[in-house]
Amino acid sequence: MYRSLLFVPGDSDKKIAKSETVPADLIIFDLEDAVAAEARPEARRRVKEYLSGRRERTAALYVRINPLDTEDATKDLGVVMEGAPDGIVLPKAHAPHDIQTLEKLLDDAEAKHALPGGSTRILPVATETPAALFTLGEYRHAASRLAGLTWGAEDLGAAVGAMSKAGETSEWSNPFELARALCLFAASAAGAPAIDTLYADFRDREGLAASAARARRDGFTGKLAIHPGQAETINAAFTPGAAEIDEARAIIDLFAANPGAGALSYEGRMVDMPHLVQARKIIALAERSGGVR
Ligand code: COA
Ligand code: MG
Repeated sequence: MYRSLLFVPGDSDKKIAKSETVPADLIIFDLEDAVAAEARPEARRRVKEYLSGRRERTAALYVRINPLDTEDATKDLGVVMEGAPDGIVLPKAHAPHDIQTLEKLLDDAEAKHALPGGSTRILPVATETPAALFTLGEYRHAASRLAGLTWGAEDLGAAVGAMSKAGETSEWSNPFELARALCLFAASAAGAPAIDTLYADFRDREGLAASAARARRDGFTGKLAIHPGQAETINAAFTPGAAEIDEARAIIDLFAANPGAGALSYEGRMVDMPHLVQARKIIALAERSGGVR
């Protein structure tokens, strides 16, 4: 599971090099919206070269290809798969069916480049078209390559002609809150991590911290980033604190000490199965973040 997932434009040597100094858990080299059409051939080559070098990185290295219904997608995969990326970010997924289509392309590419079959993961941006929202529940039948589900408001807003995506009293207006919530529940139904969308105002550290904290409270386990300065804030927001870990441990111990009990009393509060499930999730998050003492 990944806390911070940083987009790095694939056409910029400078940003690709800079990404090595950023504590992001996952890097997404972009070949789609952040790269102009005429710069794509060169960007593909750069990203492939970089991936082939690997540079001893601890971060997972993904590539965002172009949408599957464009010729660019096949060209992207044709070049970058030679570099064996850890995963592919699929933008503008129309439906979970797109995952199967991409899976077949990855099966072929893995065979061609002598990579282990099924090793390349897939992270779809699942809410970028209006029709896609009505198919989100089907991700639970999607392939084993699913690395998570994430969502985006930009393309969705443009598709419906939204004049603004911001809410008057909260971060998103209702239609986009719905897309966000559906992504969260669809990911959970699919047994995959839910990754919150990016916070665009990259100089506003407080706003990002609040947005990431809200995402974590709701159940997301990570968040997209677009600027190096965002990774640390996001990592902190998705790393459970000491008090939280202690409480989760205490609840797990309480159930272990009372085998067969359904509901118990913990510091004057009722705790039952959902609390135990949540406590286990906190410990899993903490272990992933290296936060367990
Ligand atoms: N990845 C790696 N390095 C990045 C970066 C990124 N996403 N964004 C900025 N940097 C680098 C800059 O090159 C600069 O490097 P330097 O210190 O060596 O000069 C440094 O970080 C500080 O950048 P800053 O000057 O604050 O921002 P900027 O004006 O150069 O760039 C953006 C602003 C928005 C253009 C840039 O952050 C960016 O390209 N973000 C990603 C865009 C993207 O991929 N979008 C697609 C997904 S929505
Ligand atoms: Mg986009």
